[in-house]
Amino acid sequence: MAILKLTERKKVHHAAELLLNSSNAIALTGAGISTESGIPDFRGEGGIWTRYKPEIYGNIKNFIRDPTKFWKLAEKVAPKLFSAEPNPGHYALAELEDMDIIKAVITQNIDELHQKAGSVIVYEVHGNINRFTCFGCRASYTKDQVMRKLKKEKHYPPLCDMCSAPLKPSVVLFGESLPTFEIYQSQALAEKTDVMLIAGSSLSVDPVADLPLYTLSNGGKLIIVNDAPTHLDERAEIVINHKTGKILPLIVEEIKRLQTIQNEEQDPSN
Ligand SMILES: NC(=O)c1ccc[n+]([C@@H]2O[C@H](COP(=O)([O-])OP(=O)(O)OC[C@H]3O[C@@H](n4cnc5c(N)ncnc54)[C@H](O)[C@@H]3O)[C@@H](O)[C@H]2O)c1
Ligand SMILES: [Zn+2]
Repeated sequence: MAILKLTERKKVHHAAELLLNSSNAIALTGAGISTESGIPDFRGEGGIWTRYKPEIYGNIKNFIRDPTKFWKLAEKVAPKLFSAEPNPGHYALAELEDMDIIKAVITQNIDELHQKAGSVIVYEVHGNINRFTCFGCRASYTKDQVMRKLKKEKHYPPLCDMCSAPLKPSVVLFGESLPTFEIYQSQALAEKTDVMLIAGSSLSVDPVADLPLYTLSNGGKLIIVNDAPTHLDERAEIVINHKTGKILPLIVEEIKRLQTIQNEEQDPSN
């Protein structure tokens, strides 16, 4: 297990203080928070995305042109996504919500691991891999229904029972617009928050990359936990270049330690 340098420990302490003293903190997460659950991010070394460029395979134009090709890649990627379990980073964010420190999680991830870890208020701005929609009539299908269909009909792409159009996972593909409500809500939260905790995002995919700018322009502060630099590091209050699965639980631990000290100061008889 990696040992934290003194400066990193100081940063964890500072992040804990900021969050503890916040009144409206939120988290913004990206693919990096799920790599420790075995789901590769888009920009990591090697892995499936270097062979199947997401911009090409995950492009809506190509889905329309050839949904079979898309589904063949989905078949390769889906088992990893479906079998993944939350890691300590996801659990730490769920605990921060339970402690009433963070009010919501805005995520670019489609894997549902925040909800699996216990987070309740989650805005999924790129959709969710566990639901499917008919590309023709918009009928909605669960993952289990689609799996049963594939097994029974042995046909790619799976087709809608009602209109025979191809089914598509309810995730936002390259070239598609983002869900209006989630984006509107995320912008409102980003404007209102006093502390945005960013975990595992390269902050390079629009329009989510702009959310921290709303926070900064309203006087809010950024805490960035990411193992690689981002273009907003210079403007952040705290940047910790380390694994989210390591740092987020340490932040929770430090907040609890500070809360205990505060309680003792308020009531020395305890
Ligand atoms: N798990 C998923 O649902 C999943 C997986 C791959 C891609 N995506 C999609 O890919 C798009 C890419 O944008 P993004 O910003 O989310 O991801 P990204 O791939 O652009 O960036 C991920 C960042 O996380 C860092 N990182 C990786 N593992 C880390 C760890 N354990 N701890 C700390 N940092 C770590 C990387 O260095 C990188 O900077 C998103 O739109 C998302 O929808 C989602
Ligand atoms: Zn249909």
